[in-house]
Amino acid sequence: MFSDTGRKALILIVDDQEIIRKKVIEALGVDNYDFLEAEDGQRAVQLFLEKHPDIIMLDAVMPKMNGFEACRFIRETEKEAHAPTPILMITSLSDVDSVNEGFAAGVNDFIQKPINIDILRRRLELMIKQQDYDEKLRKSEERFRMMAENALDCIVMVRLNPFRYEYISPVIERITGYNVDEFYHDPRLLSKIIYHRDREKLKLMINEGISEHQLYDIRIMHKNGQLVFVESQVVPVITNKTVIGLQIISRDISQRKKDEMRRRLESTKKALFETVKALSSTIEIRDPYTSGHQNRVAELAVAIAKEMDLDNPRIDAVQTAALLHDIGKITIPAEYLSKPGDLSDLEFSIIKHHPVVGYEILQPIEFHRPIAQIVYQHHERIDGSGYPLGLAGDEILLEARIIGVADVVEAMSSHRPYRAALGLDIALQEVSSHLGDRYDADVGKACLRVFEKGDFMFSSAPFRKQTDGGKR
Ligand SMILES: [Fe+2]
Repeated sequence: MFSDTGRKALILIVDDQEIIRKKVIEALGVDNYDFLEAEDGQRAVQLFLEKHPDIIMLDAVMPKMNGFEACRFIRETEKEAHAPTPILMITSLSDVDSVNEGFAAGVNDFIQKPINIDILRRRLELMIKQQDYDEKLRKSEERFRMMAENALDCIVMVRLNPFRYEYISPVIERITGYNVDEFYHDPRLLSKIIYHRDREKLKLMINEGISEHQLYDIRIMHKNGQLVFVESQVVPVITNKTVIGLQIISRDISQRKKDEMRRRLESTKKALFETVKALSSTIEIRDPYTSGHQNRVAELAVAIAKEMDLDNPRIDAVQTAALLHDIGKITIPAEYLSKPGDLSDLEFSIIKHHPVVGYEILQPIEFHRPIAQIVYQHHERIDGSGYPLGLAGDEILLEARIIGVADVVEAMSSHRPYRAALGLDIALQEVSSHLGDRYDADVGKACLRVFEKGDFMFSSAPFRKQTDGGKR
């Protein structure tokens, strides 16, 4: 009887002598087994195909088709089967050649005539036990395979000393680009694809002792040349206190790593931006007349850059440089900045030096874009009339040309100690009448469009105080 189903084993008894068949059935008992009978090989094969018996007792010498022929036929039919049907050959032949022929035909075991029922019963019990065990193993393997092959995680089971793969789940192809056969073909492939910088790290971690609670983060080189981040759990297989194998469960965590890196980058960017803003307002503390000037220039410069369809990294650069464009004024004596009326040539030349000082302050800082250069050039003009270098046309970075225009528009519409606010209209008039000479024509036109559209506003009002003053 089979343990998992409680079903009686079905035995096909094949013998040309009916009396032998009946004696066996009577001795084994119909309460213990179900029986099928065949009087020759042909009938046996037919019943085998139709009824799928669990065990076949097969006489060797029979008319029409003998036991060896029937056995060969059955084995041929079962070539693809996961478990061949056990065949017990009943024979009075005791010569070695017949036994060899029987084994060659696929017989599992022999029993001599006259049949000793006790021996037969024990053989049958052993065969059923074996079948029971094979079936349980098959089902458990099937369950494991189903689980492993449908799981998102990749399972690799290896045997050590000597190294060989015992199981590799097909999902490995999705993670590494190599299929299961490629791994079986090259036992070293698994270690070869570990990114060389992580190979030593992994060795060290494993030498410290494998713990199934430890997760190993390593990078592997995908077949397409890209690095894949993998998180692995390594479970040692231990027999007699010796690690004889490893079960490695791995998952692709590239997306998680990418998200982490993006979050880190965003938070660094945010921290940098906050620092830049803090620095920007610190400079303006010394000069209340220009309080908020850099912030307002940054707002307008960003609007112009967007109007000109610049990409995001360049827009960010315009914003950062605009927020810091007057950082060089930190070295100018405060009384120059708030002095009403005209400045002397010397005072003016000191003020004109501020882009150089700004460049020197910012140059050592590693920005992704040339922020220091942009600040250096924000007073340059297209016709070469600007300062400090007198650069012209394309010699001036586009970002600096944008900040140049935004700076003029904001400054002219705000009050300065040396003059009253001129107003936005006059500021825009200045831009439109100097397109292509003082100001880059494309930048100037984009600035005019920004105001024409009417959806731009400075977030804080420019400083306005009606007083007379010179123009600087
Ligand atoms: Fe400036």
